[in-house]
Amino acid sequence: MPGKGIAIITGASKGIGACVAQGLAADGYKTILIARNAERLERITHELSQNVPAELKPEYIAMDITDHKKVSESLRELQLKYTPISILVNSAGMWLDGTLDETEENFQKLLDVNLISPFVFLREIAQAMKKNRHGHIFNISSRAGIYGFAGGGLYSASKFGLSGLSDSLYREMAEVGVKVTSLCPGWVNTQMAVEAKTPWKEHEMIQPEDILNSIRYILNLSGSACVREIVLECTKSVL
Ligand SMILES: NC(=O)c1ccc[n+]([C@@H]2O[C@H](COP(=O)([O-])OP(=O)(O)OC[C@H]3O[C@@H](n4cnc5c(N)ncnc54)[C@H](OP(=O)(O)O)[C@@H]3O)[C@@H](O)[C@H]2O)c1
Repeated sequence: MPGKGIAIITGASKGIGACVAQGLAADGYKTILIARNAERLERITHELSQNVPAELKPEYIAMDITDHKKVSESLRELQLKYTPISILVNSAGMWLDGTLDETEENFQKLLDVNLISPFVFLREIAQAMKKNRHGHIFNISSRAGIYGFAGGGLYSASKFGLSGLSDSLYREMAEVGVKVTSLCPGWVNTQMAVEAKTPWKEHEMIQPEDILNSIRYILNLSGSACVREIVLECTKSVL
């Protein structure tokens, strides 16, 4: 097993996923970064490759996570090359404004990116982790995955789905040694928050490093402790 193990991070071309990939690489994991934007992935993996032993050099797979066939094939190939996978971070996701003013097509696309595609990663990776009786899974849900909010009903529905899937897997997998945690942050200082018209300034939001540090905290627990969910809120919007 290279270094501390293999960590797969989706949504690693920017925002939370990029920050988590950088942190886990610094902590001694061999990271596999996944997103669509090959140029950004190339740049990040190049930066992370500096001063790292050859066997820990990060790799990337540029793909759309809604291409489920390609995702399954890529993950199977990856698992033939590297076993066991120690960490899966499902961070790729998208924002969609609105509740009753959207089309079925846009809602379906949202559900595909935020729920069905993470499920495909879970199906491919969690089964192998279960066989190996080893692994950590982190699903980046949202505060909107535990509370509904006016004007964001469809996004919230997609994240409630992910939280439900994560919660169920947490219960299925704990006894076979695989720990599944749902992370539910409020506004995080990334491009998505800007797209979703956050009312908060950059420094008033949760920082991507807070998500990385939550993951680090869980990874440092003893084998007999597991965490179902972490809810992080902005100090300015706890009501
Ligand atoms: N920012 C917030 O306020 C906030 C709060 C709570 C939860 N979250 C959740 O946190 C996660 C990360 O969000 P973020 O804030 O880091 O957003 P971000 O900066 O917009 O990053 C989103 C990431 O997802 C990837 N992605 C999106 N659609 C994809 C697709 N179809 N195939 C492959 N990759 C795709 C993007 O890469 P490419 O464009 O290169 O494909 C990018 O790397 C999301 O699940 C989001 O819902 C965010």
